[in-house]
Amino acid sequence: MKRRQLLMTIFGISLADATIRGTILKSGLLADTSVGNSIQPFADLTNDLASGSTETVNEPLLRFAAIADTGVGSFDQYAVAQAMAQIYEHSPFALVLMAGDNIYPYGEMQYIQSAFEKPYAPLLSQGVKFHAVLGNHDIIKSNNGQDQINYPLFNMPDRYYSFTKSFPTSLPQATNSNHNSELVEFFALDTNDNADWRSQLAWLDRQLGNSKALWKIVFGHHPLYSSGLHGSDQQLASMLAPLFAKHQVKLYLCGHDHGYERFVPINGTTYIVNGGGGAPLYQFGSSGQTAFVSQRFSFMICDVYQDKIITKAIATDGKVFDRSIITHTI
Ligand SMILES: [Fe+2]
Repeated sequence: MKRRQLLMTIFGISLADATIRGTILKSGLLADTSVGNSIQPFADLTNDLASGSTETVNEPLLRFAAIADTGVGSFDQYAVAQAMAQIYEHSPFALVLMAGDNIYPYGEMQYIQSAFEKPYAPLLSQGVKFHAVLGNHDIIKSNNGQDQINYPLFNMPDRYYSFTKSFPTSLPQATNSNHNSELVEFFALDTNDNADWRSQLAWLDRQLGNSKALWKIVFGHHPLYSSGLHGSDQQLASMLAPLFAKHQVKLYLCGHDHGYERFVPINGTTYIVNGGGGAPLYQFGSSGQTAFVSQRFSFMICDVYQDKIITKAIATDGKVFDRSIITHTI
């Protein structure tokens, strides 16, 4: 992966990331200097989920949160985590997708308390399940990530895996006869360079093809498309995008570039870089396919319905700064 290799030093850390734990203290003193750049303005950017406005009228069948690039133990990570906990009080979510770089700088489990257990304690104590994947930082001093896989609160049965969420039992089965009772199937990928790509891609093709879920959502650490520091990864896109299109994956969530960028659907898939979970922010540009880009600390909430998924990007003040609707008809 030429572009990524250019950005990587030995052990796979970008130069920008290399002193990341050294910048934590500085980062903790920084205000959230948010810069939003709406390429395609959305009508409802002022919607505040915490205020319990419009969408609480129609409760989703499933609500989940998503974060990435979190594990620094910084003031900013705690600010994001606190905003998540506040949202949870009004609009509880069942699970959190954690798209890698879970523990900086090198994935060491010795930092698990400051990088994970303390910031998310309010959610963990209420039984919210986190489902992690391995970022590039997570595989360096962790027996190639195995230490994190073995950590039960990351709920990683393997380097790549899938899990499903069913329709609530109070509802009738899905009306679409092509699908069974599975509402969503989540597919977690190991997007690192040293992943077993041959096996993983064969598994992904098979698993996506066999899935009967109404919605197929994939998450991994690295973006296929990004206007951030690391940028798009053409090799990753050449491997994954055709499978996403073939099997109608509607949403791919990732991190690695520390900020937020949502793309217009590309061959039916909405790609969102969601890397504002706490690590120092990067500069972002934009591309012709960028729908919204922002440099701020943030997380996502996704509300899943039978006919749509509403994605919301939320800043540390609890305000929704980007929102999109994904439908089956895109
Ligand atoms: Fe990363």
